[in-house]
This record gives sequence, structure tokens and C-alpha cells, in this order.
Amino acid sequence: MKVTEIDLEKCLKSVLPDPELYEVLITAQNISARRGEFLYFAGGVVRDYLLKTLHKKKVVKVKDLDLVLQGNLEEFLKEFLKKVKGEILFKSQFLTYKVKIDLSGKEFLIDFITARREIYEDVAKLPRVFPSDFKDDIMRRDFTINALLIGLSSPYKGVLIDLVNGMEDLKEGLIRPLHIHSFVDDPTRIFRGIRYKVRLNFEFSEEFFLALERCFEKSALKKLSGTRLANELKLYLTKESEKNLEELLKTTFNLNVFEKAGIKTEKKFFDLTVKLLRELKEELNTKEKEKFFLLSLVSPESLQNACRLGFSESEIEKIRKHLETVRELLEKWKKLSVWEKIKVFERIPVSYPLALSVYFPRIRKDVVKFLKRYRKIKPELTGDELIELGVKEGKEIGRFLELLRKEKIEGKVKTKEDEKNLIVQFLLNKSEN
Ligand code: CTP
Repeated sequence: MKVTEIDLEKCLKSVLPDPELYEVLITAQNISARRGEFLYFAGGVVRDYLLKTLHKKKVVKVKDLDLVLQGNLEEFLKEFLKKVKGEILFKSQFLTYKVKIDLSGKEFLIDFITARREIYEDVAKLPRVFPSDFKDDIMRRDFTINALLIGLSSPYKGVLIDLVNGMEDLKEGLIRPLHIHSFVDDPTRIFRGIRYKVRLNFEFSEEFFLALERCFEKSALKKLSGTRLANELKLYLTKESEKNLEELLKTTFNLNVFEKAGIKTEKKFFDLTVKLLRELKEELNTKEKEKFFLLSLVSPESLQNACRLGFSESEIEKIRKHLETVRELLEKWKKLSVWEKIKVFERIPVSYPLALSVYFPRIRKDVVKFLKRYRKIKPELTGDELIELGVKEGKEIGRFLELLRKEKIEGKVKTKEDEKNLIVQFLLNKSEN
């Protein structure tokens, strides 16, 4: 066990996302000292702090603060929340608590974790956990660079503890799993490792490849559920920098991870997916982006594969129907009117046609235009105003709003006045007939 003294005050001030949290940390430190329970930082907080001091790397301040206690966390938190304004948001099956802290109007989230041991009873299944000491808690982790800890209270206050040569790997820039069985226990670690490699510009150690090989031998990635697989891939989008996305996908592909996870995907489409995501950044919400991203990994020829990415059978069926429609229209696509194309895109979640547009270049420009322009065009008149103009309540309102939208998209109606005139004219014609 390598032990190094560090300047704790400097460390705390550097890692805390807000200076006001300093007092909160001191309170936690005091409580753990009084209770005689060891409190420490582990995981990303320590890694990023050391990266900053070692490589002078500019690392963004941690958003999620992980504090680990070797002791009775429930009792600890009772005391803590008497002194600090906040509440427990939820407790997980893994002996962790998400706590919301209120600091003069600002809110912070802290993950409190019980130092624990993990037992993996089956390949790629979630582990059973048991309270334990800091050594077990370190040895249960994914990579050496994530297995360093900084003590906040006695017996290791102000001390950096390295049980696994993590400092060396941080210096060398290596992603090394703690043991060769690591990815059989938890194949999501492969995706985590890829994220760290690309994010930090590190390399994989030899053990990474050996652990990967072992994971492939045991078909552990195939046993990982579609939902967990999808959640890991979504982190490429939500947790990593946009400029790294293509590299993340290519690294995953080159390691054969997609194939071994049961996803048939083609490398040549990655850059297009990334380009579309960049171009449509402002037009899509997070859910739409995620869905598009996942679906774009599945080629239309192997749509059934989408179940490996958490899509339900009924959703895959919906996508398949849409795929048929697009395929049937492909020949005469250029001859369709703007409105007809819009009607093809509008009946379903926008991520479906967008994902198909990666594979069918003919529809791509139209899907992009639909998202950037046509989807946003709405009539100015409201339902109530239509009623005032004499439209009957009920289904008719919807029909008129649709008509107005069509005319607006086709450029025949521009102002609100134009819209009113069109409706009045329409109602007059109707009453004359
Ligand atoms: N961890 C693990 N195996 C996993 C997930 C997490 O061993 N499958 C451990 C790692 O030690 C990790 C810590 O739990 O450092 C916290 O996980 P997480 O918050 O997901 O990652 P961070 O380390 O905070 O890294 P980042 O958020 O920057 O990716």
C-alpha cells in the first residue's frame, strides 16, 4: 500500500464545484472523526484532481461528488442532515444514497457510498454488495486510475492511498483493469474504459486486451441486457465531448465490441451520424438525440438488432413499418410534394426517419429541412380564434389548423391576416355549397 501525504485544504478547494461546499465537507469530516469512521474521496474526483496536478491537464470540476464512508452510512447521514440543510433523494440497492444539499438557494448533489465488497454471482449480472472496509472498496473497482483514494478523516486524513499502482498508470496514461475477470463481471466497464481512453487521450494496457478477450470467451457482452448496453452507449453522447464521438464509436468498433455485443453496425456510417448530430444539435431534444444515435447504429437490414439497444418489439415493429413506407416511396421520392414528404416524417418519432436517412441518402436533405424548418411552422391562429371565426368545435378545428399549416409551409399564407382570410373564405365557400 503506497501512502503519500497531500495538502488536503488545497485539494478540497480544487475539487469542489462551489466554495460554499467546503464548509459542508468540513462538517462531514468532523462527524466521521467523532464517530470514528473513515471518510474518503474515491473514483473520478481523485483521478481528476491528480491529473490536474500531474499532467497540468485542465479537467472540468467534478459535477458528481462521490464520498465514501467505511461505517454506518445511515446513522452518519442522520447526523449530517441535522447540521446541513438537505435531504436524501434515494437509497440504492448498492448501499448508496443520493443526497441533495441546499446552500443559500443553490442545490448540489452528493453521492454517499458505503465502503463495500461486491460479489458477482453470474456473468454480466448486477453484483450483490456487502459493507466492508476501504481495501475491499478499492479492489471492487474498474480501473487502476479510478482506484485511488484520498482520506478525509483519520486514520488516513490528508493521505493519498494507492493499492493498485494507479499513480503509475495515471503518469503513464494507461487504462488498466484491476483483474482479468473484470469485464466478465461487468462488461459495461469496456465502454467506460473506451470513454476514459478517448477523453484523457490514454492507451489501453495489455491487461485491458486480456480482460476483453476473457469477456469475449465467456460471451459476457451478449449476456448484458439491451437496456444496460444502451445506457452505456448513451453516455458517449451525454457525458463526453462532442468532438470525441466519432473516435469513441470507431474505438468500440475496432475492438470488436459491437459485434460481440450482438450489434451489427458499419463503421462507414459513423461520420454521417456524428455530422447529423452536430448539424441538428439545436433541433433535437436529448431523448430524440439518444434515440437517433442508437438507431443509426443498426442498419435497416438488421433492424431486429435494435432489441440489443433497448428497443421493444412493438417499437421495432413501428420502425419496420416506417422503413417499408420509405422504401416504397424511394423510387418516386423526388416527385413528391413538400407536404407529402412532411406527412411521411410526421406520423412517427423524428428519430426514425433521421436514422433511416443515414442509410438512404435520397431522403436525407428533406429530413434535415423538415427538422430545421417545417417542423416548427405552426399557424398563428389558435383553436379559440378559429371558433370565433365560426369554425365548429371538435374535429373540425384540427382539420383547419392542419390546412393552415399546409398553406403556410407551401408559402400560400404568410401573415395572421392571411390565415383569417383563408378561413373566412373557406367557411363562405362551404355555406354556399
Ligand atoms: N465503478 C466501477 N465499475 C463500474 C462503475 C463504477 O468500478 N461499472 C467505480 C469506479 O471506481 C468509478 C466510481 O465507481 O471511479 C464512480 O463511478 P462514476 O461516477 O460512473 O465514474 P467517475 O469515476 O466519477 O468518472 P466520470 O464520471 O468522470 O466518468
